[in-house]
Amino acid sequence: MARLLDPALATAAPGGVLVVDFGAQYSQLIARRVRECRVFSALVPHDADPEEIRALHPAGLILSGGPSSVYEEGAPGLDPALLDLGIPVLGICYGMQAMAQALGGHVAHNGVGEFGKTAVTVRSREGLFRDLAVETAWMSHRDAVVRAPDGFAVTAEAPAAPVAAMEDARRRMYGVQFHPEVVHTPFGTDLLKGFLFDVCDCAPTWTPVQVIEDQVERIRAQVGDERAICALSGGVDSAVAALLVHRAIGDRLTCVFVDHGLMRLNEGEQVEQAFGRHFKVPLVHVRAADHFLAELAGVTEPEEKRKVIGREFIRTFEREAAGLGRERFLVQGTLYSDVIESGGKDAATIKSHHNVGGLPEDMNVELVEPLRQLFKDEVRLVGEELGLPERMVWRQPFPGPGLAIRIIGEVTRERLDILRRADFVLQEEIRRAGLYRDLWQSFAVLPAVRSVGVMGDSRTYAYPIVIRAVTSDDAMTADWARLPYDLLERIASRIINEVPGVNRVALDITSKPPGTIEWE
Ligand code: XMP
Repeated sequence: MARLLDPALATAAPGGVLVVDFGAQYSQLIARRVRECRVFSALVPHDADPEEIRALHPAGLILSGGPSSVYEEGAPGLDPALLDLGIPVLGICYGMQAMAQALGGHVAHNGVGEFGKTAVTVRSREGLFRDLAVETAWMSHRDAVVRAPDGFAVTAEAPAAPVAAMEDARRRMYGVQFHPEVVHTPFGTDLLKGFLFDVCDCAPTWTPVQVIEDQVERIRAQVGDERAICALSGGVDSAVAALLVHRAIGDRLTCVFVDHGLMRLNEGEQVEQAFGRHFKVPLVHVRAADHFLAELAGVTEPEEKRKVIGREFIRTFEREAAGLGRERFLVQGTLYSDVIESGGKDAATIKSHHNVGGLPEDMNVELVEPLRQLFKDEVRLVGEELGLPERMVWRQPFPGPGLAIRIIGEVTRERLDILRRADFVLQEEIRRAGLYRDLWQSFAVLPAVRSVGVMGDSRTYAYPIVIRAVTSDDAMTADWARLPYDLLERIASRIINEVPGVNRVALDITSKPPGTIEWE
């Protein structure tokens, strides 16, 4: 049975380009590239009903890559009706092969493939290759189209792909064996632009201003005269979601900021300053540090810490919500990547990433999710446009359980204070060095050991601080960041001089895998 499409597509998709997803790891990247050209794009499953797709009025379709072979057992099929909608189509890799096969061409399954940078020779510059300097492109295929369907011209070839590109301008159908969406195809973005603007006649209107207008309208339609509530975490997602809703319904939104006392230095104050004072959003700032510390007393096991914090967060939030009264809507900062990820495959749960700030399951509310269509970088652009302070817009990811999972062993007020001060120094130096935005995360960890040192003439017996800094695209994998030695030296010497209770600084040089980013 065809899967139902996300109802939110109804407003965003008209005039945009839908990526028909055959399961390639690059499918999301195609949508991102299209959006970077300021054209809306979203993934739809390959078995979506073609009539539903037509009803969304997309200006174009891109068939994504997929498994290694159209002959593979269970290979996702292309519904030929998609090709009869009269909508321009660009097939990429598997998407081109599936299209070729559906239209009567031939795909050979001969086991000789091309992987990586490959020389491509252009045969025709009439269509998509007009004005493009083409030498190499990124390939990743074993099968190849060996005969293009009737009506198609072969426009490029490669050593193991006699049809490296093909097009039928009359029917506005195009196929490329290589991947224009990856940076290793130097002319890839220009080729996509040709498809978007010359073939599909898209307008470059997907801008932060447009997103804000659309969402404000949607939120007004959804919430009507009712009231909404939002849990702020200090992170960019909940902040942008809240500001969008505030712009739409004004003071009928109440934000609740449960300050569990496990934030970094001054972070709670920043939320208060931005929301309460600057944007004047009705804000309930719950100062619950004492309560959380009491609940965490004696807890040393990482998953237990997460459970306690998650549970207390929800209890506190519910209590506040109950005190407010008649909020029928709950605002959440769900992102497009969360939507895609929960749409299918089960990723192995390595840690229970309890999303503190998550939805209390039995609350009787309807969700408002204004970021459901946005990637993280787009959320940041919208945040900037809304005037959110730079620090909040560009904040590195910070786990819901906060500093508690960076303190190995028991979380006490004293240890929290040590870590917070050390972390502050580290952040400040990283920012000064201009590296903050280049790093996925950078932070300090407080292990549960002490070591001997000497300061002045006295022996010390104090904690070490571990510096953890990683680069990553999505936190699934990460590499330890090669921070300059002089920066490391400044961080180490400042931490030891400025933070009582610390006499040693170490650097974590573990990538993920085998390590995780956090220590707990
Ligand atoms: P790991 O440590 O598993 O972390 O490599 C991957 C990413 O997830 C964040 N993280 C969490 N976020 N609640 C959260 O909201 C959690 O319990 C949690 N644990 C880890 C981590 O900071 C990194 O960005």
